[in-house]
Amino acid sequence: MNISPTTPWPEGFLWGSATAAAQIEGAAHEGGKEDSIWDAYARQPFAVANGDTPEVAVDHYYRMDADVQLMKELGLDSYRFSTSWARVVPGDRTPNAEGLDFYSRLVDSLLEAGILPWLTLYHWDLPQALQEKGGWANRETAYRFADYAEAVYNALGDRVSHWTTFNEPLCSSLIGYVAGEHAPGLTDPNLGLAALHHQHLAHGLAAARLRDLAAAKGREIELGITLNLTNAVPNDPSDPVDQDAARRIDGIWNRMFLEPLILGAYPADVIEDVREYDFEQYVQAGDLEIISAPIDFLGVNHYHDDNVSGHPAPADATPGLRPTTKPGRSPFVGSEFVTTPPRDLTRTAMDWEVNPSGLHHLLVRLGQEYPTLPPLYVTENGASYDDNRAGDTIDDAERTQYIEQHIQAVADAIADGADVRGYFVWSLLDNFEWAWGYNKRFGIVYVDYQTQERLPKRSATEYAALIASAKIAA
Ligand code: FCB
Repeated sequence: MNISPTTPWPEGFLWGSATAAAQIEGAAHEGGKEDSIWDAYARQPFAVANGDTPEVAVDHYYRMDADVQLMKELGLDSYRFSTSWARVVPGDRTPNAEGLDFYSRLVDSLLEAGILPWLTLYHWDLPQALQEKGGWANRETAYRFADYAEAVYNALGDRVSHWTTFNEPLCSSLIGYVAGEHAPGLTDPNLGLAALHHQHLAHGLAAARLRDLAAAKGREIELGITLNLTNAVPNDPSDPVDQDAARRIDGIWNRMFLEPLILGAYPADVIEDVREYDFEQYVQAGDLEIISAPIDFLGVNHYHDDNVSGHPAPADATPGLRPTTKPGRSPFVGSEFVTTPPRDLTRTAMDWEVNPSGLHHLLVRLGQEYPTLPPLYVTENGASYDDNRAGDTIDDAERTQYIEQHIQAVADAIADGADVRGYFVWSLLDNFEWAWGYNKRFGIVYVDYQTQERLPKRSATEYAALIASAKIAA
């Protein structure tokens, strides 16, 4: 990769890669694991492209040692993975020793390979048994989450120092409960808003529990959360309608998540936007103090900006000019349309804009807008493209360039004052891309889904070279 060799990466900057349990493990009903909401959702007709399911995924449950070996060959400092709640506490009953043992072996393998385990407790796979009791719309689930965190900590806390409570709660609340595009596939704004608050509460309760457990053992712990944050850009910066659409997207996608955590309050303008749903009924006295207890880091996932307009899409709009949400039922944006007009930028196979300057802007502005912001880690960034395999070679030039340009954007953001301490490429392996199934490949390592063979792509080789050269320069 072409990043300037003189780029002064801060001391201890972590180079990593990320995955998530439901996307890679498979063994969905083995080793004591029972259904998560993604197992159940994927069985619904037309929920997931091609009828794909996480049942086998990329068989990481059985190939874990070889996968860690791959990470070692790439020279990763850290590996970001998630634990599956439905494997650790199947059926919402008692902790499953066999499930915990899998993660214990993973952690041992990582440490033996000199790789820092970066553990996420919730990457969207709630036990289906809890969904049947209301899922995240039920406040009780937040308390169950703290108990689950304790079960994982009891098994791994002697070796894992970096703990993330949630990955992208926007997706597991509003996309799952309002847009219906993720498990559990519901379309109810009230349930979505309840889920949003209860996930925040769960974060706070689990964070307190983990800190207490660590303190009792005299252990150091680094604790944070990962949010997916965007820059909402008004399509016409001088048009008040587009400006307001950008404010609403920034509000519901960014500030509804950042501000309770960092400032201890929900943003007043968004509460007003969703007034018809009476969000505040879910927020009990004392919740915001629990939610806003200081964290040690904020994980930022970013793939693209959102160019938004408050004007309806023309009736004959092409897919590139599509309504983000349907009118009349969405607390995402009030009750009006927000559209995403195409800009003159190249796009990935997800139809996402390629715009590295957005990542630079985001990382810099976060620190400026929130003076009490903790250090940042880019916990996901990467791209899906259709890979062409020629023999054993996958020359994924576009993905390689995407990663290179975004790492340069991180370097530029650091130079401009952002406190960024690590970068995790999404993803180590091609995997189950949620509602898109196996069609969308994000891996720097190719997976042949018939044989489960792993094959590093050019992006993997070049990422490894960049890590090596960054270390020499340091
Ligand atoms: C993020 C998810 C991750 C992956 C990437 C492409 O929103 O956290 O699991 O699906 O998108």
